[in-house]
Amino acid sequence: MASKYQAPRGTFDVLPEAARGRARIERAAAAIFARAGYEPIATPAFEDTELFERGVGRSTDIVRKEMFSFEDKGERSLTLRPEGTAPICRAYLEHGMHKLAQPVKLSYLGPFFRHERPQAGRYRQFHQLGLECIGTDSPLADAEAIMLLSDLLGELGVPGVQLRLGSLGSLDARRAYLEELKAHLRAHEGELSADVRERIDINPLRAFDSDDEGTQGVMGSAPTIVASLAGADAEHFAEVRALLDAAGVGYEVDPTLVRGLDYYTRTIFSFVCDALGAQSEIGGGGRYDGLIEQLGGPPTPAVGWAAGIERILLALDEVEAAPGRDAFVAIADESQRQRAMALAVELRRAGLAAEIDLAGRGLKGQLKHANRIGARRVLILEADGSAQLRDMESGEQRAADPGNLVDEMTGGES
Ligand code: HAM
Repeated sequence: MASKYQAPRGTFDVLPEAARGRARIERAAAAIFARAGYEPIATPAFEDTELFERGVGRSTDIVRKEMFSFEDKGERSLTLRPEGTAPICRAYLEHGMHKLAQPVKLSYLGPFFRHERPQAGRYRQFHQLGLECIGTDSPLADAEAIMLLSDLLGELGVPGVQLRLGSLGSLDARRAYLEELKAHLRAHEGELSADVRERIDINPLRAFDSDDEGTQGVMGSAPTIVASLAGADAEHFAEVRALLDAAGVGYEVDPTLVRGLDYYTRTIFSFVCDALGAQSEIGGGGRYDGLIEQLGGPPTPAVGWAAGIERILLALDEVEAAPGRDAFVAIADESQRQRAMALAVELRRAGLAAEIDLAGRGLKGQLKHANRIGARRVLILEADGSAQLRDMESGEQRAADPGNLVDEMTGGES
């Protein structure tokens, strides 16, 4: 029966069969983070709105259009977090982590919220896993971060993944480049889409992302920041590339790569998967050397990334099979209910996956159910205190020692 209520637009329920695939991704990520020394951090699901306005940037689509903001009873403006980097930098400062040995290496996983137009791979509540390496400007940190995401996608078996790499230069270089880009856009104002024209001053980089034909023509001859990188910025980018080359991580330098958040400086990257169609980015990130200062902290270089769990699942397009059960404790007679319950508890304490019938089925129905849930063996408790052990694969059945049922189940594999 269809319910009167449905999950809100752009959200979804994670049903058990989908939860298993998610759990596999989360386990793989947790293991990769732990082995590289990135410790878990969790921040609240909502923050002061201003944190995102300052951190992510007022000119971004995220802040202009996509935030779920609300006023609390104290008339404070709060926002469901659209991303995790600004909150983690806030936590880094709030807890004095800049006084710890640097860099501070953190990992995270959780729900994020953006009021976007829903489509496959784009939701209003979605889940990211990611890492942030705060307190170093070494290219080693950029390369390590990229390699960890590359390893994760490899280990999960995500097919057809490509890495795009770019660099935005340091804040000063970026500023100078933006002036150059704005001049180019202004010189071709008539050919640009209205949306891009309106944002020449506030966010000229987004013009590279436009799917408008006229704008694309203008961008074809636009100066790129990668081409204008100089000095320490050029060296930094070269070093990141050399480290990736040495590690055998394939990438393509994309001089027009831009990202939807304002805080990036120097390295930016994006892992895409063609199988995903329009929303082809599985994960991405980059360096954000100015963000912590922007939030009121000391100058603190940092790098990180986040990947969308739903996008990974879509790219994998596989359903994880339900795990089998070791045992099912069936009863041939109602009088055995307590004994069955106690035995199941004992079996579970001994580490087995064991179930009992909770629905009052007859013995035949219980055996059918045990088969349905994939139980490998069934113990049948008889009214006279005896027990039968049935192997569900072979169909063989034999008497079991009623005084030693746990041993019978944990010991000899039949
Ligand atoms: P982002 O590129 O905005 O970066 O998001 C990271 C990933 O989250 C995307 O690559 C995509 O897989 C997933 N994602 C984003 N929006 C949605 C959506 N509406 N539905 C489903 N999945 C989505 C950040 O959020 C940065 N904080 C990453 C970062 C960390 N940069 C440095 N450190």
